[in-house]
Amino acid sequence: MNPFLLYNYLDPDYFCDRHKETEILLKNINNKNNTAVFSQRRLGKTALLKHVFYLLKKKQSTIYLDIFPTSSLKEFTDYLATAIYKEFPIHKSTGRKFWEHIKLLRPILKINGLSGEPELTLDISQPEQIEKSLPQLFSFLDQQEKKIVIAIDEFQQILSYPEKNVEALLRTIIQNLHNISFIFSGSDSRLMIEIFNSAKRPFYGSTNFMTLNKIPREEYVSFIKNSFHSVGVETDEKVLEMILDLTCTHTYYTQRLCHEIYADRISYVKEKDVVNILYKLIQQNEAVYFQYRNLLTKTQWKTLKAVAAEEAVYQPYSQSFIKKYSLGTVSTLQRNLKALVDKAIIYNNLSVEDPYYEVEDKFLMRWLQNE
Ligand SMILES: Nc1ncnc2c1ncn2[C@@H]1O[C@H](COP(=O)(O)OP(=O)(O)O)[C@@H](O)[C@H]1O
Ligand SMILES: [Mg+2]
Repeated sequence: MNPFLLYNYLDPDYFCDRHKETEILLKNINNKNNTAVFSQRRLGKTALLKHVFYLLKKKQSTIYLDIFPTSSLKEFTDYLATAIYKEFPIHKSTGRKFWEHIKLLRPILKINGLSGEPELTLDISQPEQIEKSLPQLFSFLDQQEKKIVIAIDEFQQILSYPEKNVEALLRTIIQNLHNISFIFSGSDSRLMIEIFNSAKRPFYGSTNFMTLNKIPREEYVSFIKNSFHSVGVETDEKVLEMILDLTCTHTYYTQRLCHEIYADRISYVKEKDVVNILYKLIQQNEAVYFQYRNLLTKTQWKTLKAVAAEEAVYQPYSQSFIKKYSLGTVSTLQRNLKALVDKAIIYNNLSVEDPYYEVEDKFLMRWLQNE
């Protein structure tokens, strides 16, 4: 089996580091404190939540829901009901109690044709019905003997719901629960900060914050080395450093590159193997990169290439950066950077002491540098 996972979580053997973060989350859960976790996309939030849940599994009930696909409070409610149903399946006594508890909400159970997973929908549509059914779902959980942890992934999605006062409604419900702790996680740090850190908003002051940064380089070096070694692949320090240089230690891109190296069945990995495999990966994505070029304006494209060339841009409005790449006036550059950030092509990393701009997709960055 390939030791470098690209999706999901399996067990601690496939999971690198995050000791500190795991410890903090477990401590918060133990003390019934809620935590908001944020980081750039694909850095490992979901895997961290799954890891913590894996460690908790025997002691507590864990409920995970990713609300990225939802676009209304009604859908949120259905997702929550489905997540509870999965934790408490109907063939167990708690599952039967849950079913009894929500009978009046007229649940309909379907099996998703694509994923084969169960999906619960509640036959309710009036806003007042939805507002009443949410507390009912939570109150069922609150009555259970075992402590419960709920992780809501991509939580910033609630800001796009058309219903009014969603934050206030959720905050009020959550405040009155005694047996449940929450982890809210999200990739859009600007929106997450808006929810949790604006003094005027309902969630203000109610949660601990955690910013997930890159995995420390030394940790990743030994993880890659050991993972390769466990499946009979050897390499040397220079190659390990090279891998992490190429991916900027970004979790997903590092996993992806190592995954492909293993898949190529090389027994001793050399620098030229890494280059070849990266080149192959980039080629597979080239059609998408050309699409980007068609979708962006000429000056946006130029800005993107400039950021890629620099890898990290700390002072985008400095004359030296603007002159070096002929990026026009400060206001044009401001507009272009904003457009690229809004499209999630460029990431503005604000969670470090010295904020900077970088290309989100590290393989795109390498491709742009070679164009
Ligand atoms: N600590 C880790 N060790 C090994 N692989 C990880 C780790 N964290 C994340 N991954 C892998 O990196 C990829 C992106 O992680 P994910 O949790 O989906 O990021 P996010 O939720 O922040 O977008 C996934 O393929 C996941 O399996
Ligand atoms: Mg995620």
